[in-house]
Amino acid sequence: MSKQIRSIGVLTSGGDAPGMNAAVRAVVRTAIFNDIKVYGIRHGYHGLINDQIHEMKSHDVASIIQRGGTILKTARSKEFMTEEGMHQAYENVKKHGIDALVIIGGDGSFRGATAFGQRYDIPMVGLPGTIDNDIYGTDVTIGYDTALNTVIEAVDKIRDTASSHDRMFFVEVMGRDAGFLTLRAGLACGAEAILIPEVESDITKFIDFLENGHRRKKSSNIILVAEGEKEGGAFEVVKKLQPYLQGYDVRVSILGHIQRGGSPSAYDRFISTKMGVHSVQALINGHFGVMIGIQNEKIVHVPIEKAIKLHKTVDLDEVKMIDILNV
Ligand code: F6P
Repeated sequence: MSKQIRSIGVLTSGGDAPGMNAAVRAVVRTAIFNDIKVYGIRHGYHGLINDQIHEMKSHDVASIIQRGGTILKTARSKEFMTEEGMHQAYENVKKHGIDALVIIGGDGSFRGATAFGQRYDIPMVGLPGTIDNDIYGTDVTIGYDTALNTVIEAVDKIRDTASSHDRMFFVEVMGRDAGFLTLRAGLACGAEAILIPEVESDITKFIDFLENGHRRKKSSNIILVAEGEKEGGAFEVVKKLQPYLQGYDVRVSILGHIQRGGSPSAYDRFISTKMGVHSVQALINGHFGVMIGIQNEKIVHVPIEKAIKLHKTVDLDEVKMIDILNV
């Protein structure tokens, strides 16, 4: 017989992502629907340690589905990685009579959840929330679709300038260690090239790319560079390629944190809501230690330990398409 859940704590952790609020709303209301008390924990694990915990009612999550960021606020807590920090967090969990936690965040947040779960017996469910889309076990993460649309909108604008001035733009896209945003944005914007950490960059290939551009009489180029690209960011890439860029009017544009904010897309609102509802149902049904993911449009339960241990890879066919489409 699995432990009966009478109260749930929900927190957002790591980088904010559009759709986190929709997920929080779904968690709060699904809990209340099932006569489960629900506590909001502010500032992620930091708030768990510092007792920033308050009960939430249905009206506390009214009119937040369309808002970017997270009303619960978020943090990257180093203290939670210490024995003392985790112990203090556990004391607060006990103090409020919280039976289970819903953790909304990226792989760093899941690592924290796993370490906490190994020390203390607290049922937990994770929801993948990061614009980077770099979590194993789910096709999409909360915030990725919105960020992708933000990148596309920005790059479309940059292309106006690139083509008006005959320039070559190196545009840096977020993604700490991952090229998902860069790859899909590259395909959706018709980028001439992309540089992502998953694919070794190759000078010879770049020289071919420039020659190909000459042959096609291309007057402007957009090259998307993933923030986590092995050479470093876009500025470092341009520095390294400098000898080959003579004669080109080169500019660098770092998109930065505009990629993290903004109202969530319809798709992000939908998946966040669905995952949020399923997270509470999973706890009610005794499915603990899992991440709620989406595979082929269906909800799946993936052990959190597996989600952090295994590495999600980009689709190399999609990488190839960038070249195919730039003949
Ligand atoms: O994980 C999301 C993300 O936006 C990454 O793409 C980026 O590397 C990182 O967070 C930036 O984090 P911060 O806002 O803490 O500088």
